[in-house]
Amino acid sequence: MTAPQDHPAIADARLHQGVDDGTATGPVDPGAGLVRIPAHRYTSAEFAELELRRLWPRTWQLACCVDHVAEPGDWFEYRVGPFSVLIVRDGDGTLRAFQNACRHRGNSLCSGSGSGLAELKCGYHGWTWDLAGQLRRVPGRKGFGSLKLSEFPLLSAQVDTWGPFVFVNLDLEAPGLDVYLEGVPADVSWARLEEFRCTASVVGEVAANWKTVADGFSETYHIQTLHPELLRNIDDVNAPQRLWGHTGKSEQLYGLASPRFAGGLSDAEVWDSFVVTQGGRMGVSEPGSVPEVPEGSTLADVIAERIRVHAATQGSDLSGFDTDRIMRLHQYNLFPNCSVLVTADTLSALVARPGAVPGMAEMGIFAFRRASAEAPYAKPMDLRVAFEDLDLGYVLNQDAAVLAGIQRGLNQPGLTEIVLSQEEKRVINTHRNLERYLGIGPAD
Ligand code: FES
Ligand SMILES: [Fe+2]
Repeated sequence: MTAPQDHPAIADARLHQGVDDGTATGPVDPGAGLVRIPAHRYTSAEFAELELRRLWPRTWQLACCVDHVAEPGDWFEYRVGPFSVLIVRDGDGTLRAFQNACRHRGNSLCSGSGSGLAELKCGYHGWTWDLAGQLRRVPGRKGFGSLKLSEFPLLSAQVDTWGPFVFVNLDLEAPGLDVYLEGVPADVSWARLEEFRCTASVVGEVAANWKTVADGFSETYHIQTLHPELLRNIDDVNAPQRLWGHTGKSEQLYGLASPRFAGGLSDAEVWDSFVVTQGGRMGVSEPGSVPEVPEGSTLADVIAERIRVHAATQGSDLSGFDTDRIMRLHQYNLFPNCSVLVTADTLSALVARPGAVPGMAEMGIFAFRRASAEAPYAKPMDLRVAFEDLDLGYVLNQDAAVLAGIQRGLNQPGLTEIVLSQEEKRVINTHRNLERYLGIGPAD
């Protein structure tokens, strides 16, 4: 048993209490410069085993979306490493989560996802629970002597929602999701996340450690090199970061040239760059023919208006969002493995989960569309694809393509450590949290 105040989640809150001033520098070792991290954290089987014992069964993780389990009888199986959590909407509409194990001899009760579940019947010998997890039937019950049904409820897990996201935590002693998310929900309340509906999810296996994947969505330092097209329409220099405890944030403004281009870029160059990297937001796929920018407006204003007009054709009302809300990406990092990306017209979530060996991971993405708070829910299209078929869009494909090469490099025996800049403070923060959960020091 862990006393609540000793839970790693609470330790984080204490650590950061009063330290975060919400400025661009954030609370990680201001002025500390270079930070060294042992490279074996990304490659060693022992380290991955430690994570399986001390991290994955104890943290809140994005499992699915409300769209997956909106109706009574809907269910979704969430897997991370060897763990399997069954999320069920019961007959009263209450969302419940159970460890996916029969109390008889352990068989998994469900796999995948679906709807119309009235009870949970084990496919091996037929023990059956109601959707609230109470055991109702045991075939050949006399053989068990005085077995009491009430003694064998399903083993529960924590489940909670934030906007359209469903999170689970196998640790019943962990602080609630609202505590875990810290300042994030308030920070993004302007975006009315409850209006978004999940349209699709894609999961693919990648040849990299889960942290290699998660690190890729925890810093913008790589944009100038890995995303040269994106650099032409993003201010990656004035991109403030903020850290709470388990959570962090980066803001990036789009629709203008990176200050790295001495002398700037023409509107035509910025426009083409926006079209190539995220033209779908305007319904434009071909570069060229930059629109005229009226006196007193900026190209970003023009792009934002194009996005508003296109969104209206898709049933999304962006009339209440100004240029900044549309053109500024708010990217949140939720320890250990999730990043949520928000603009007025877009919402997506990226997750990284451990694979069968330390050098493999599952990368997942949830895509959303803004509808309205009252819009009906529909089952998203869920795809599991081979890495070669993983198409995440122009920029994320560049992020995915580099993963196997990073992992190969991390395997080289002479590379005993990696070094991180304060620009990569959200990666550093992941490691600091990891150390707390695993009970290890910065050099371990
Ligand atoms: S393992 Fe489930 S009823 Fe036997
Ligand atoms: Fe990237």
